[in-house]
Amino acid sequence: VEIFRKDYEPLPHLVEKINMLFSIEEGKTIVTTELFIEPNESYNGKSRDLTLDGDETCVKLLALSLNGKDLEEGTDYTLAPGKLILKNPPAGAVLKTVVEIVPEDNTQLSGLYKDGPMYCTQCEAMGFRRITYYPDRPDNMAVFENVRLEADKEAYPVLLANGNMIDSGDLGDGRHYATWTDPYPKPSYLFCCVVGDLGKIHDTYTTMSGRKVDLQVFSESHNVHKLDYAMESLKNSMKWDEDRFGLEYDLDLYNIVAVDSFNMGAMENKGLNVFNTAYVLADKDTATDSDFERVEGVIGHEYFHNWTGNRVTCRDWFQLTLKEGLTVFRDQEFSGDMNSKAVNRIENVRGLRAGQFREDAGPMSHPIRPDSYISMDNFYTATVYSKGAEIIRMYQTLLSVEGFRKGMDLYFERHDGSAVTCDDFLSAMSDATGVDLSQFALWYSTNGTPVVTYDTKYEDGTFVLTLTQKSNSDKPLHIPISVGLLNKETGEEAVATKVLDLKEMTQEFKFEGLKGDVVPSILREFSAPVKLLPASGEEDEEALAFLAARDTDGFNKWEAGQKLFTSLIFQAKDAEMTDKTYDFAKEAFGRTLTDKESKDYSILAYALILPSEGTLGELVDVVDPIAIHKARGAVKKRLAREFATELKERYDELTAAMEGSEFKVDAESIGMRRLRNVCLEYLCSIRETPEEQKTAAELAMSHFKKASGMTDKVAALGALASMDGEGASARDEALETFYKDADGDALVLNKWFSLQAMADLPDILDRVKKLKEHPDFTLKNPNRCRSLIGAFAMNTAFHEESGAGYAFLREILEDLDQLNPQISSRMAGSLIQWKKYDEKRGQIMKAELQKLADMKPISDDLFEIVSRGLK
Ligand code: ARG
Ligand code: ZN
Repeated sequence: VEIFRKDYEPLPHLVEKINMLFSIEEGKTIVTTELFIEPNESYNGKSRDLTLDGDETCVKLLALSLNGKDLEEGTDYTLAPGKLILKNPPAGAVLKTVVEIVPEDNTQLSGLYKDGPMYCTQCEAMGFRRITYYPDRPDNMAVFENVRLEADKEAYPVLLANGNMIDSGDLGDGRHYATWTDPYPKPSYLFCCVVGDLGKIHDTYTTMSGRKVDLQVFSESHNVHKLDYAMESLKNSMKWDEDRFGLEYDLDLYNIVAVDSFNMGAMENKGLNVFNTAYVLADKDTATDSDFERVEGVIGHEYFHNWTGNRVTCRDWFQLTLKEGLTVFRDQEFSGDMNSKAVNRIENVRGLRAGQFREDAGPMSHPIRPDSYISMDNFYTATVYSKGAEIIRMYQTLLSVEGFRKGMDLYFERHDGSAVTCDDFLSAMSDATGVDLSQFALWYSTNGTPVVTYDTKYEDGTFVLTLTQKSNSDKPLHIPISVGLLNKETGEEAVATKVLDLKEMTQEFKFEGLKGDVVPSILREFSAPVKLLPASGEEDEEALAFLAARDTDGFNKWEAGQKLFTSLIFQAKDAEMTDKTYDFAKEAFGRTLTDKESKDYSILAYALILPSEGTLGELVDVVDPIAIHKARGAVKKRLAREFATELKERYDELTAAMEGSEFKVDAESIGMRRLRNVCLEYLCSIRETPEEQKTAAELAMSHFKKASGMTDKVAALGALASMDGEGASARDEALETFYKDADGDALVLNKWFSLQAMADLPDILDRVKKLKEHPDFTLKNPNRCRSLIGAFAMNTAFHEESGAGYAFLREILEDLDQLNPQISSRMAGSLIQWKKYDEKRGQIMKAELQKLADMKPISDDLFEIVSRGLK
């Protein structure tokens, strides 16, 4: 069934307090609850019945009583698929339920499930109903007063739940218990318990008001040595939120648990975060620099949710971006402050374009606040998260950092402890600053990526910039466009960055009193999630070359280079590269490569990387993935040959600079490795002749053997994995060594799978099929699944003309959907973009989608994606 935002109605009664008892035994867990129910004052509907959600495919009802009296089905309550309707409960009612669940059989990883040596929960968005009957919606905030866990003491020594532990002890017969209490009212999606055999590290943090908080990070014992970076990041997050937003942690204990099988990245359960191991474990031998960056970001993200998500939560799931967009924005700002702002911005925009722009151009396109869903889990999207974060960033750009902070303060003053909407957030921002944001509100209801075109004119010291917008909204959006002007002759900044309020369909902005012609730098720092295009349709390549060399805005400097590369790649695809464009691109590339002044190595590295195939695909109406792949490859190889000497020089220089120095994970060291690995990638792309193949293989092999940590190892193996001919034996040797060195480490094995699945080899599908039969492969672990199947779906070879790649994915989805619908529907995302491809490919993809649609049974999750895809 489809749920609509406009149908929201408050609950007639609220559960204000709940007690729970989990009695965990092998193959069977009994959950007993007491719900304290009161009438809801803000309800003014007719029915006084209370609907409790419960997934009967998972939860077996054993007993139900109200105020001590057993209830009768039909008279006191009725059962329907997914729910239990309680007839008109009196004020002060205490409802007692007893249910049985089998976490060991829960392959969906939603609700209570078993993973290796532990039981753990995932309740967002609707997992709590797979544990017991309850009003499983975020506007029911209750105090979880007593949560008691009972389990075998030897097998499961650690018993965790939200809040603070208030009691624990032995039960005799080898079992033990612990009771937890959480003073802060919360919705059921923030409930969590973990029961297992776990190791941990411990630290403390003293908050700005002087309260000491115990911090613990748990994982399986063999991974405990990889938890330090997460702990460091947690402390940094706590400090940052105090400094930037004046927000302090509110319990005496903060627990984090690392879990191997997890559908998403991590979960912000109150006082007890659960993390996918991939986003919490990190040491130099198993994690790449990007993994470290991600751990820091996600640790921050979940911590920041304590205020933006937990203390103030969502009224209903359509408001998801209220907490997610805002919290992603906060984690991005945190990462920017911890590392480099410009690098962080480039990385985030690269991600936005590859993921969100693509989503918004396809059948899953939706506004950041959607209007309807079948399965809410399908709406934890790039749009709600990443575009949502861009919308929040625009508030800050429009209101200034100080204004934004005022708005945040008012938001918490008004709404702490309640479940609210995106409109409430907007009102707080507007009321705190006196800025009218009514037009800005359109961003919440407009899907698709807006296009802004610009036209320029210079005459007698006056520069006129004409901006025109086009979006799916009938009324114009309020778009902040940050602009700076550079003097054409001197390159000096003639006008510093200024935010223009584009509020009309077409608007003219005048800059007067200039001392000569200027080159505009438009959409600095990517001030709005739009596509910026010249009105003429033709990029001014001379201006781009100028900006790539001189722009004082780090983001736009990078962007200008990317646009030059983009022009060149499309020229290579359609006919051939023109000398003019090539020379501009060459100049930009060469200048970056030989820039010995800058210590911003990451920026240099990103300036050398060509736009991704996904980003390029976004710029055309009909995608021929193989042609794009070839064209990008041709540009890459041409630049590599042109600069072979300089690339090798830079590579050697960086090698020498890093030799002998201690391994560090700071911005400078990360940048040096990044730049060196980009050089390696270019150098390894030169392998036409057997001689060149040998040289490339030798270089990559020596890089592999001398690798100082996982970053370099992955870079080397990434290059080797695609080698053939004279490089084939080095490739096989490195893959074997990497596998052996992994020694069963799950996250390292994931890299081993994905590097192979992404390789550029002619027989790649056969290789992936073989890997699927590898003893280390399983569909049951989402990370493993993504590392092979998800990675292959991003390989150009997935789109191989016969459609064999599409059929392979469809077959896997048929099996996967029976196990884990959240993951099967995610992966189906690779098939729904069929309209973007050429006729022949599109029709094959569509046929595979149809086969999925006809499958019985099919999960709601997969059904929703597939049917949107077919529409
Ligand atoms: N709230 C979590 C986060 O962003 C994500 C949980 C999503 N879970 C899901 N099953 N859809 O930090
Ligand atoms: Zn989140």
